[in-house]
Amino acid sequence: MARCLATWSLLAVASTVTVAQTTISDDRTTATGTTISVSEVATPSGAYQSYSSQITLDTTDLGSITTGDGTSSTFTDNATQSTGQSTVKTSATDTVTFLTGAAGTSTTRIGNFSTSAATSAAPTVTNTQPCNNYPEFCARKYSNITEISCHNSPFVQTNNLAANQQYDVTLQLDDGVRFLQAQIQWPTNATSGDAPHFCHTSCDILDAGPITDWLTSVKDWVAAHPYDVVTILLGNGNYSIPSMYVPFIEQTGILRYIYTPPVVPMTLGDWPTLTEMILGGKRVVMFMDYMANQTEYPWLQDEFGSMWETPFDPTNQTFPCDVARPPNLSHNDTMNRMSLINHNLNLPLNILGASMLVPARTELNVTNNVTGYGSLGLAADTCVGEWAKAPNFLNVDYYNDGGFPGSVFEVAAKMNNVTYNRKCCGVSTSGAARHVLGGSGVAYAMGILALSWALL
Ligand SMILES: *[C@@H]1O[C@H](CO)[C@@H](O)[C@H](O)[C@H]1NC(C)=O
Ligand SMILES: *[C@@H]1O[C@H](CO)[C@@H](O)[C@H](O)[C@H]1NC(C)=O
Ligand SMILES: *[C@@H]1O[C@H](CO)[C@@H](O)[C@H](O)[C@H]1NC(C)=O
Ligand SMILES: *[C@@H]1O[C@H](CO)[C@@H](O)[C@H](O)[C@H]1NC(C)=O
Ligand SMILES: *[C@@H]1O[C@H](CO)[C@@H](O)[C@H](O)[C@H]1NC(C)=O
Ligand SMILES: *[C@@H]1O[C@H](CO)[C@@H](O)[C@H](O)[C@H]1NC(C)=O
Ligand SMILES: *[C@@H]1O[C@H](CO)[C@@H](O)[C@H](O)[C@H]1NC(C)=O
Ligand SMILES: *[C@@H]1O[C@H](CO)[C@@H](O)[C@H](O)[C@H]1NC(C)=O
Ligand SMILES: *[C@@H]1O[C@H](CO)[C@@H](O)[C@H](O)[C@H]1NC(C)=O
Ligand SMILES: *[C@@H]1O[C@H](CO)[C@@H](O)[C@H](O)[C@H]1NC(C)=O
Ligand SMILES: *[C@@H]1O[C@H](CO)[C@@H](O)[C@H](O)[C@H]1NC(C)=O
Ligand SMILES: *[C@@H]1O[C@H](CO)[C@@H](O)[C@H](O)[C@H]1NC(C)=O
Repeated sequence: MARCLATWSLLAVASTVTVAQTTISDDRTTATGTTISVSEVATPSGAYQSYSSQITLDTTDLGSITTGDGTSSTFTDNATQSTGQSTVKTSATDTVTFLTGAAGTSTTRIGNFSTSAATSAAPTVTNTQPCNNYPEFCARKYSNITEISCHNSPFVQTNNLAANQQYDVTLQLDDGVRFLQAQIQWPTNATSGDAPHFCHTSCDILDAGPITDWLTSVKDWVAAHPYDVVTILLGNGNYSIPSMYVPFIEQTGILRYIYTPPVVPMTLGDWPTLTEMILGGKRVVMFMDYMANQTEYPWLQDEFGSMWETPFDPTNQTFPCDVARPPNLSHNDTMNRMSLINHNLNLPLNILGASMLVPARTELNVTNNVTGYGSLGLAADTCVGEWAKAPNFLNVDYYNDGGFPGSVFEVAAKMNNVTYNRKCCGVSTSGAARHVLGGSGVAYAMGILALSWALL
């Protein structure tokens, strides 16, 4: 792949910068780093895998969930399943019922959750246990739910223009994000045996640290939230072969929760329900955009075999719901796969013939809003209009900002036909001040200007 390299100095320091005889103070405006090399911004484009037919993988992950043939099976996550006449709810401490994968089975789970077999006629049961925050989602297929996705989830760094999120991944998950996207790069000074890092374009612009740190945070959150299914999309920034990443992924222990699909590629109908994944203890879905090899690692799924994306890093508020990747996808395949919409508006910084995109933060009140030109709500509606189904993943910057706090979750709730009733955002840290866009946006714009002057 051709890459145009440009090198320049990014002037930077902490909260006070002197540029062209103008002093700018704003803790969100400066970039850090000294001399950096940046690839010209371009849509990633590796080889796309094509499938002439579905391949069946040798996996028994969730296979026994839907049996009901008189045998009983033990699942991980301390959930056990045995057959019975019907499913009723019993719990000493909570009134929760879990809709099991198949009629005629009952489920016992250690903790505040248990169901047992009854011999009487099946009672009418109402599920009260939320799966991914809503009881309604438990019985739905994974592929039939719209989730908020954090574009560049690990890129949380004040004082850095290239940052994409304000809150770290634990807060993202606490707030209701269930899809996490991130790009892996190798630091230029990495030596053999070093872990790859999550970096923005180049590790010299924004280095969010070894992938093992972030993945461990996700694993810890998943372990503590037994009714949640979390998806990770790894951007293979260097198009490295999977075996260069896998040992580091394994090291974190997250594979204990990994979901392995039964077939490749997965069509919409092939996905299990959240209930099935939760009972099976397989609650982490992992995709990689390029170079996945499911013969070698069946769980590291080829993103574009199951999903398509709208244009990458948009700079135009029209946000068409066009299929950008994989290229030339047939109409049938488009209708049979999940979709991810890139709804993160970017501002191009053109310097020395190369360009860098940074999130258009002053526009977030519009971009992440429920209605209006350029809003997430409008873009999601556009997709429904065009493809007659809701988009699956709404990939946004600064999910906590919008027309009002949580407006992106309001959009997702509308797509899911549920009522948004949650608090947003960042509230689980003891009274952490919520970041509010206001006058500082002006300073932000000035910061960008100053940065451009400095670079010219
Ligand atoms: C299952 O439960 C037992 C006892 O409650 C506990 O010791 C064990 O760690 C649990 N296993 C998992 C995988 O959570
Ligand atoms: C069960 O729920 C009660 C109250 O809701 C809580 O205090 C307790 O820790 C829970 N137990 C387990 C094992 O989750
Ligand atoms: C998606 O979920 C809704 C709500 O439960 C349901 O009505 C619809 O049939 C589901 N669609 C598919 C394709 O499973
Ligand atoms: C690579 O460079 C970064 C930043 O200068 C430094 O923090 C890190 O320790 C270096 N890593 C190695 C393996 O030398
Ligand atoms: C990253 O990619 C570059 C060029 O594409 C290659 O030379 C280098 O070996 C790769 N680094 C790693 C760690 O795979
Ligand atoms: C995928 O992995 C298999 C098994 O290790 C290997 O034979 C095959 O060459 C790999 N495919 C690619 C495209 O690297
Ligand atoms: C945005 O896209 C629309 C439709 O393609 C086009 O008409 C418009 O000129 C574009 N705006 C900018 C600023 O590029
Ligand atoms: C997509 O189709 C166009 C025109 O039909 C063709 O020029 C292009 O090479 C195709 N791209 C890929 C990646 O197949
Ligand atoms: C597309 O799907 C429809 C219905 O499933 C089928 O009849 C048709 O043959 C498919 N077209 C192609 C080109 O595969
Ligand atoms: C969005 O916020 C910016 C300031 O950050 C303000 O200038 C602009 O008017 C706001 N847009 C709307 C539609 O309220
Ligand atoms: C955001 O959407 C809400 C609800 O539709 C609307 O009332 C508000 O004016 C919008 N805000 C902006 C900045 O567009
Ligand atoms: C959406 O929710 C409304 C109100 O709860 C309900 O009447 C309607 O049937 C739902 N539609 C779908 C497709 O689930």
